[in-house]
Amino acid sequence: MKSPLRVAVTGAAGQIGYSLLFRIASGAMFGPDQPVILQLLEAPIEKAIKALEGVAMELDDCAFPLLKGIVQTSDASVGFKDANWCLLIGAKPRGPGMERADLLKDNGKIFIAQGQVIDAVAAADARVAVVGNPANTNCMIAASQAKRLPAERFTAMVRLDQNRAQTQLAKKTGVDLTAVQDIFIYGNHSPTMFPAFAHAKINGQSAPAVIKDDAWLQGPFCEIVGKRGAAIIAARGASSAASAANALVDHVRSLVTPGAVHSVAVKSEGRYGFDANVWAGMPVRTTTPGSYEVITGYEMDAFAQSKIAATNKELVDERAFVADMIS
Ligand code: NAI
Repeated sequence: MKSPLRVAVTGAAGQIGYSLLFRIASGAMFGPDQPVILQLLEAPIEKAIKALEGVAMELDDCAFPLLKGIVQTSDASVGFKDANWCLLIGAKPRGPGMERADLLKDNGKIFIAQGQVIDAVAAADARVAVVGNPANTNCMIAASQAKRLPAERFTAMVRLDQNRAQTQLAKKTGVDLTAVQDIFIYGNHSPTMFPAFAHAKINGQSAPAVIKDDAWLQGPFCEIVGKRGAAIIAARGASSAASAANALVDHVRSLVTPGAVHSVAVKSEGRYGFDANVWAGMPVRTTTPGSYEVITGYEMDAFAQSKIAATNKELVDERAFVADMIS
């Protein structure tokens, strides 16, 4: 039996947490032979702590053979202690009338503190995946605090956008989902993100050649994927928590599976038109468990370049809002 992985989850009593924890404990994230210890971190709010107790009771009641322990805490130095994976979901939501700059700054404080504690107490091989929005910039902020852990260990999730894009291409062409490959997300996890359809394959053929409808690809396709979160809130009256949790399972599962190709927001080194040092979605290939290389060499046409320029601008603007906090 392998020794257990310590998996820290922030915002553990929230909506995404409730859809996520049971899947981690069942083996969906790290595989059916990998035991886990869940280290659940919540905000120091009575209601959240109480809710977390209930979630932990349900985890107990599932009798998951792989679940070897549950830690419940609102102390980050306890929650992240020796953690091999830190899944940062907890974030401050945007309240009514709240300016984007204020949201960035409020979350900046959370992710500065968590970045510092992770760097101080997490395991030597720790990996960090950020989901709490604005995920890319929160990830950049947390990474900016790390002196021990390299920046490549900090990733933000754009996998939900990739999954959404894959499904839309399959529905459009009436093929099985698995026939759609190599659809990658570039940029911010926001409506500006760009699903690079020109490189996607459908049954091994170029997606635009199969679909033969560039107007749909450039217009409605990008729009449906970009605004899917808002469409789900409008329909369900609540945000897309289950599919976000599922995407995080996919994000981590792909990152621990050598050879997997998938979209991850990683530290930019200036490729594909992104400014250096923003965290931008791009295609990666997992090399060894937890490590990856950016897939280079995809050609971007004028349309793709303009979309990437727009999402890059948003990332650069977000960075400017928090620059004084991380400098
Ligand atoms: P939620 O509001 O149901 O849960 C958030 C939880 O985080 C709450 O229980 C809250 O008490 C906790 N929390 C807040 N500050 C914390 C802190 N400093 N430390 C620990 N816990 C803290 O929200 P939900 O639906 O679970 O979403 C969580 C985040 O994920 C939001 O920021 C949301 O916008 C984002 N999200 C990101 C997606 C992506 O694709 N990257 C997709 C969907 C949501």
